Amino acid sequence: MPGIVIVGAQWGDEGKGKATDLLGSRTDFVVKFNGGNNAGHTVVVGDEKYALHLLPSGILTPGVTPVIGNGVVIDLEVLFHELEALSARGVDVSRLRISANAHIITDYHRTLDKVTERFLGKRSIGTTGRGIGPAYADKINRVGIRVQDLFDESILRQKIEGALDSKNHLLTKVYNRRAVTCDEIFDDLTSYVERLRPMVADTGLELSRALDDGRTVVFEAGQATMLDIDHGTYPFVTSSTATAAGAASGSGVAPSRLDRVIGIVKAYTTRVGAGPFPTELFDEWGELLRKQGFEFGTTTGRPRRCGWNDTVLTRYASRINGLTDIVLTKLDVLTGIESIPVCVAYDVDGERFDELPVSQSDFHHAKPIYESLPGWSEDITGARELSDLPANAQAYVRFLEERSGSRISAIGVGADREAIVQVHDLID
Ligand code: IMP
Repeated sequence: MPGIVIVGAQWGDEGKGKATDLLGSRTDFVVKFNGGNNAGHTVVVGDEKYALHLLPSGILTPGVTPVIGNGVVIDLEVLFHELEALSARGVDVSRLRISANAHIITDYHRTLDKVTERFLGKRSIGTTGRGIGPAYADKINRVGIRVQDLFDESILRQKIEGALDSKNHLLTKVYNRRAVTCDEIFDDLTSYVERLRPMVADTGLELSRALDDGRTVVFEAGQATMLDIDHGTYPFVTSSTATAAGAASGSGVAPSRLDRVIGIVKAYTTRVGAGPFPTELFDEWGELLRKQGFEFGTTTGRPRRCGWNDTVLTRYASRINGLTDIVLTKLDVLTGIESIPVCVAYDVDGERFDELPVSQSDFHHAKPIYESLPGWSEDITGARELSDLPANAQAYVRFLEERSGSRISAIGVGADREAIVQVHDLID
């Protein structure tokens, strides 16, 4: 049985929960392999609604082992806050496994995230302010603190002191903030040690063994392809590998163990934070998508920028991730629109681009070239088979499929968990 990767194919918030739901009871492990508490998903189980930012969604499914991989950055306060909130509601959180090599987000990372954004002014990224970028910067600079460092007090002190050497200069002399002491960080981090200890594991080894034993492991990417540090719209990206390749490096499982890559594509496009977005709508159509699609951030509450579907992006995401399947989400949001524009190429200063321009400056100037497809007005939320969809909705799906270069295996047609048209099985 397979290793399955789930990735966002646009700028995030595509609704990965639909794919996780489809895999449902056939999943044994769900792994978060990148990012931190910058993500946000709302999971509805029965009458209960859960908002998770850091924990993998698998924590809510009985029998599934949730794993936080080495590629993640962990804010311990958020981790235990989420765990306690779930426990209080009767969720069994005892199966959670955490990589000894995952990095820790500290108080100074959160402070630096906020002050650097403020200093960037007009050039700010619009980060979630959770300390994600500064924690990954420390990891790459080799002054980060890993989960395993918490279990050796002398090493922990040395590492905090090493990190604070330059941080305190930056905080006090550049950003005019107060210095941080080694003791306050040490006391904060060590206050979690005993609760953390039973969860910490060699997760790469455990996951590889699980795959050897024929278990199904789902690797769920945080953020999305266009926010990937290497392949996204740099610098308006997150600081981790949010594409399928990250599933291997961020979890310690070999790339050859990954059998399926499922890309999640929203029927239209959204983005939070700054950066180029060719199909963005500034008129009443953008407002309509935002309202009909409830497009407000789960983590920050920010209204999301909205625009039409962009098949140039999806084609790019298909290639970069090697998508084997697409789950198309929120098709019902487009119901009632008479004619639906879909971006098929870009015009950059008079030149046509069928693929993403290699130059970021060109991408900033890209104007969408649209083809318009006839819409439908019938309620599609009850559709469960492709043939239940109105002919124009079917044609819209087929058009996106042809242009994106990957088969569409499922279609989300409503907010309910069951509101899915399944076309192909996601595990076979
Ligand atoms: P950071 O990840 O907080 O550093 O933010 C970097 C960029 O990624 C910003 O534009 C954020 O809005 C965006 N971002 C981070 N996490 C998510 C997410 O889960 N969904 C959508 N956008 C995100």
